[in-house]
Amino acid sequence: MSDPFDVIVIGAGPGGYVCAIRAAQLGMKVACVEKRATLGGTCLNVGCIPSKALLQSSEEFAHARGALADHGVLADGVRLDLARMQARKSDVVSANVKGVEFLLRKNNISWLKGAGRIVAPGKVDVAGTVYNTKHIVIASGSDSIPLPGVAVDEQRIVTSTGGLELNKVPGRLVVIGGGYIGLELGSVWRRLGAEVTVVEFLDRIVPTMDGEVARTLQRILARQGLKFRLGTKVTAANATDDGVMLTVEPAKGGDAEHIAADVVLLAIGRRPYLDGLGLAEAGVALDDRGRIATDPRFATNVPGIHAIGDVIAGPMLAHKAEEEGVALAEILAGQAGHVNYAAIPGVVYTWPEVASVGQTEEDLKAAGTAYNVGKFPFTANGRARALGDTEGFVKLLADKTTDRLLGAHIIGPDAGTLIAELVTAMEFGASAEDVARTCHAHPTLSEAVKEAALAVAGRALHI
Ligand code: FAD
Ligand code: NAI
Repeated sequence: MSDPFDVIVIGAGPGGYVCAIRAAQLGMKVACVEKRATLGGTCLNVGCIPSKALLQSSEEFAHARGALADHGVLADGVRLDLARMQARKSDVVSANVKGVEFLLRKNNISWLKGAGRIVAPGKVDVAGTVYNTKHIVIASGSDSIPLPGVAVDEQRIVTSTGGLELNKVPGRLVVIGGGYIGLELGSVWRRLGAEVTVVEFLDRIVPTMDGEVARTLQRILARQGLKFRLGTKVTAANATDDGVMLTVEPAKGGDAEHIAADVVLLAIGRRPYLDGLGLAEAGVALDDRGRIATDPRFATNVPGIHAIGDVIAGPMLAHKAEEEGVALAEILAGQAGHVNYAAIPGVVYTWPEVASVGQTEEDLKAAGTAYNVGKFPFTANGRARALGDTEGFVKLLADKTTDRLLGAHIIGPDAGTLIAELVTAMEFGASAEDVARTCHAHPTLSEAVKEAALAVAGRALHI
């Protein structure tokens, strides 16, 4: 039997591998168990990275066929080589997953290849060998939620995994779910020529985002050609030789109708992936939504067993999983690891992008918090005009009495990068005036953030 480890992390996604690296940096003897052939989890293999590669490539294609001419650049005869686009995506994924392998080696972390099963606290079985450890960290991630009546075959009826792998642009793509995945992959295939219809159960898209931003996003995506069927539920999907016939009904009840599709993308959310971990035998408790129940220090009810990332409560985002991985490693090393859940950004990588941190207007109204709003449109930003990307706005929400920033919501070019300043501001407990009095370089998109902060006090300069 080998020497015991200090920490065995089960799962090498952004939660698990980052936790392993931080624990190794703090002097612990660490192993990371991963059953997939490559490291990096959902995020690097079938999530964040391949989707962003295809979003970028499809955006280049759409730009070359459309807005490039506005710049006086005439690219005639632009054609799509989907096989090359998919091969580039695979190269991007491959470089990233190899990067994680390098990082594990560099930090002397053992990769235990195979599925990890908890035999007892302090004991993990991997491929028939039982390894001993002081601490176990479960970071086994998530999987897509199935929908009764919609049988996924990853060919005609796909989850995001199959939706990233299509080798032909579908004539008609129906997306079930108007959330992160539906809008990102719907945008990819729309830009490449598919007719895309998004069927959403609720009467709005991206339900966790600010309502005004969501309405604006829907309007802009509709102009790009995406069709929306809100307040609609799918009751059946029958795959045939030449496509899929969907049966839909109004969510509130009513007559059924049919929608024909070549490919259906099921994207109604994700749920913790807990198969084969031996949780029931180990006595690890779940919460009412099937997630591993943890305390604020990521401890489960079983001493020595911890959990982070998509398997526990909170937004299912890679950077949230990473923050938890770092905090937990520091807690295990006797330090004061901590995650500020009030300052975790969320970004939808459509074009324009949507980025959000903190509370929405709906949250503040529900909590009865008095607030001021500062808004600034990209139409009034010089850099956005120069880019030819003037859709959207920055919207800041600040406490009416103290001026403290409570939320920031951006729809516009590079919103995902712009939000970082506001996350930092909120981490430092900044007021809107702090942001407004900070010098922002000209001409940059970030001046729209400064102007929105000025607008909170009714003194925007450029509108
Ligand atoms: P995961 O990344 O799911 O990793 C868990 C790993 O554990 C997997 O590799 C799995 O094989 C392994 N595993 C499971 N059980 C065992 C076992 N018993 N033994 C050994 N190994 C095991 N988030 C963002 O922040 N930004 C984005 O742009 C973004 N885009 C996304 C796009 C798509 C299409 C999808 C599906 C998700 C996206 N996400 C994005 C979400 C993000 O991928 C997840 O939040 C993140 O990967 C969660 O990290 P994790 O470490 O908890 O789990
Ligand atoms: P989601 O939770 O973002 O969106 C699911 C949507 O489906 C919601 O709008 C919901 O109302 C709707 N829905 C639920 N049941 C339905 C039904 N029966 N019929 C029709 N609509 C229904 O989930 P999604 O898009 O599957 O993504 C999963 C998670 O992965 C995201 O929540 C996010 O955490 C993560 N992700 C993050 C990305 C990013 O950060 N850019 C990109 C992709 C995924």
